[in-house]
Amino acid sequence: MATERTFAMVKPDGVQRGLVGEVVARYERRGLKVVGLKLMRVSKQLAEEHYAEHRGKGFYDGLVSYITSGPVVALCLEGRNAVQVVRDVNGATDPTKALPGSIRGDFALDIGRNVVHGSDAPATAQRELKLYFGDAELLAWERTGERWVHEKA
Ligand code: RTP
Ligand code: MG
Repeated sequence: MATERTFAMVKPDGVQRGLVGEVVARYERRGLKVVGLKLMRVSKQLAEEHYAEHRGKGFYDGLVSYITSGPVVALCLEGRNAVQVVRDVNGATDPTKALPGSIRGDFALDIGRNVVHGSDAPATAQRELKLYFGDAELLAWERTGERWVHEKA
């Protein structure tokens, strides 16, 4: 599996509930490297671009108002198979189906308040990273001890 970059987000409920540190710690502990991180508000326009695939669905309006309802933490995470790894760390979209040990399985109960986002495929990650980060906001940096996470970096 190739080294990838993916987009993740602590959604407004995660920020309001004081889970930013907990969520970031889980990604870091797994071995993913933080290469971008910022606290921001999602505008209606950005929310509509991000969730364009869901336009017209019953939950769309609620989703846009949820994601724009307060600050979020946007993250770019790098590591082997990072896209799928973040999906697994996040757990199933519906928290009642998420396994204990995942973020949603440990901290959420409602699909409309599921704490985190993670890109669903490498191409989606590229698209979402471009929406949320400028090039200069993503840092290529060498992690001390990289060889203790990836055998061949
Ligand atoms: P995410 O994009 O947030 O990582 O989650 P996901 O890929 O697992 O889920 P996706 O299908 O992309 O849906 C995006 C977000 O919309 C809300 N949703 N609500 N009420 C519903 O049936 C429903 N379905 C989706 C969730 O907040 C989901 O994370
Ligand atoms: Mg999704």
